[in-house]
Amino acid sequence: MPNRKNIILIGFMGVGKGSVARELAKNSDYIAIDTDDLIESMENKKIKKVFKDEGEEYFRGLEKNLSLWLEKNVTNTLISTGGGFYKVENLKKIGTIVLLDSPFKDILKRIKKHTNAKSKLAKRPLLKDLEKAEELYEQRRPEYLALADVVIDVTDKSELECAKELLKKVKKYV
Ligand code: S3P
Repeated sequence: MPNRKNIILIGFMGVGKGSVARELAKNSDYIAIDTDDLIESMENKKIKKVFKDEGEEYFRGLEKNLSLWLEKNVTNTLISTGGGFYKVENLKKIGTIVLLDSPFKDILKRIKKHTNAKSKLAKRPLLKDLEKAEELYEQRRPEYLALADVVIDVTDKSELECAKELLKKVKKYV
């Protein structure tokens, strides 16, 4: 049985999963956790360093272990995820899946308008080459859409607007 009470935020790097999750946590009773944050504390290393030292495959293994732990141990929680976490086999069993969606060019616009844009780009190894990142986006988007119970188009919306829309749309699932 899927644990519908968790909300899992999926979507491409930089689309605002973490920021929307924080806004949601402020405006609801949900506790927010983030898969990248959990992995960083488990490994005692930044994601960028995990990629550099151990490689992407190792990182994906950590995501898989974490997904099994989340399925077994976590409920009533808002879980924001890294952009590739959606590939874990048991995603649907962890909770209601919400996709934050936006065209690639708008995601880039969103990252670039941040005061700390440089560090937002630098901390994401898979955003180093923007052409490759766009290809990855094109490849992943249909997969994100196929998994999502709920889709929120975040383009030109504030984090608060997205959070409110999300709470309304997930009501029938949680
Ligand atoms: C990744 C996204 C990152 C992080 C890692 C890999 C991906 O998280 O998990 O760099 O494969 O899309 P964000 O989506 O929070 O940037």
